[in-house]
Amino acid sequence: MTMLIKGGTVISSTGADLAEVLVDGETIIAVMSPGSEPALSAESAADRVIDAAGKYVIPGGVDAHTHMELPFGGTKASDDFENGTKAAAWGGTTTIIDFAVQSFGQQVRDSLDEWMAKAEGKCAIDYGFHMIIGDVNDASLKEMDTLVDEGITSFKLFMAYPGVFLSDDAQILRAMQQAAGNGSMIMMHAENGIAIDLLAQQAVDRGETAPINHGLVRRAELESEATHRAIMLAKVGASPLYIVHLSASGALEQVTRARNEGANVFAETCPQYLYLSLEDHLGKPGFEGAGYVCSTPLRSKHEPHARDLWTGLRNDNLSVVSTDHCPFCMKDQKELGKDDFRAIPNGIGSVEHRMDLIYQGVVTDELSLPRWVEICATTPARMFGMYPKKGVIQPGSDADIVLYDPSATWSISVDNHHMNMDYSAYEGIEINGKVDTVISRGQVVIENDAYHGKAGDGKYVPRGLSQYLM
Ligand code: URP
Ligand code: ZN
Ligand code: ZN
Repeated sequence: MTMLIKGGTVISSTGADLAEVLVDGETIIAVMSPGSEPALSAESAADRVIDAAGKYVIPGGVDAHTHMELPFGGTKASDDFENGTKAAAWGGTTTIIDFAVQSFGQQVRDSLDEWMAKAEGKCAIDYGFHMIIGDVNDASLKEMDTLVDEGITSFKLFMAYPGVFLSDDAQILRAMQQAAGNGSMIMMHAENGIAIDLLAQQAVDRGETAPINHGLVRRAELESEATHRAIMLAKVGASPLYIVHLSASGALEQVTRARNEGANVFAETCPQYLYLSLEDHLGKPGFEGAGYVCSTPLRSKHEPHARDLWTGLRNDNLSVVSTDHCPFCMKDQKELGKDDFRAIPNGIGSVEHRMDLIYQGVVTDELSLPRWVEICATTPARMFGMYPKKGVIQPGSDADIVLYDPSATWSISVDNHHMNMDYSAYEGIEINGKVDTVISRGQVVIENDAYHGKAGDGKYVPRGLSQYLM
């Protein structure tokens, strides 16, 4: 089956051009000038011609940070791999990298098998895995090497969540030394969890139990401190470092300084830190703020965090936008913490909205069109060893292609999203632009406001080493 996408403006991380894209089966085989001889012959021979006039033709989004079905605080994230990846497709994302979780006391191999089984045959789009190492010990360090050979080339560690996921500095350093040896990437949840837990206990002792306290005790200084410590440990361990869900100006300063010194330090931010705030969202009256409990937390709108993050995205001190998609419903899930903010499961769902929300940065001139594509598709693919299979429209790449209509307008709402959540963290946000058609490895999965795929269309993608380290 051949398919020609004609009349659109193809956006890459380096520019935008009118071009026609020819797909054969699952693969892009040509990108041609409109009206050229190859384009005209392709049009007459193609099984299907898709008219992309007036649309941007972009590589399918790569969301490098999702948590389908993540167990957390006695419940689990409300999107499973089937529904969550379908919602991602609706939003123009054609690849996710989720996190397999080794909990304390578990073998890495068993945990990976468990997560592979959860995803197998369920996904609407392609997927890979990072591995959370929740128990750094001799056996798990050894397993890191084996996993790299199997396409799991990044490992997340936590400086937060004492007693659950937290690794101490010695464990972190050991894992970094292992990564330095096997070429993999250490991803860090950089918050000082021990100090946070003390402040959280003190807040509860004072009777301050409402959701906003989650953000008040997770002080920005404690993100900066942990980010600095992670960078220093990575320097000592000689490993690359990728800071996940960076939310605060001070943490960004640490990353910027390290990058200016030439260190292999990278960071992502997430839409929630660009659009939502401690006061307006986490601080909503009653228990409504629980819907905005995530870690790192939303930051104060009276400080320049969001502004600095947009700047970081422009100047590449922030290289990637991921979602940290980790949805929970208010009913029965967020409600677990109605008397104590510490029991509210941490996470916000937005896998469906990343491409649209970051495109608003193009609309408001924060970002160029190529930079939008770069931070949402090309760089995450390169960062995590999937490029040029993913993240670019060029011959030989997977035919993961989104037609994006810049003329459409709509509002995000719980009534129109496809994620399994009983509220939307972005309710009422007006969006200029809309995902029109989504092609996942050559198959049209979203078209005419309908989903045309099925569970199991998405395949596991073993990843190579980060292409930023070569
Ligand atoms: O609130 C969050 N981020 N939940 C998911 C777990 C994590 O730390 O990424
Ligand atoms: Zn985290
Ligand atoms: Zn996460």
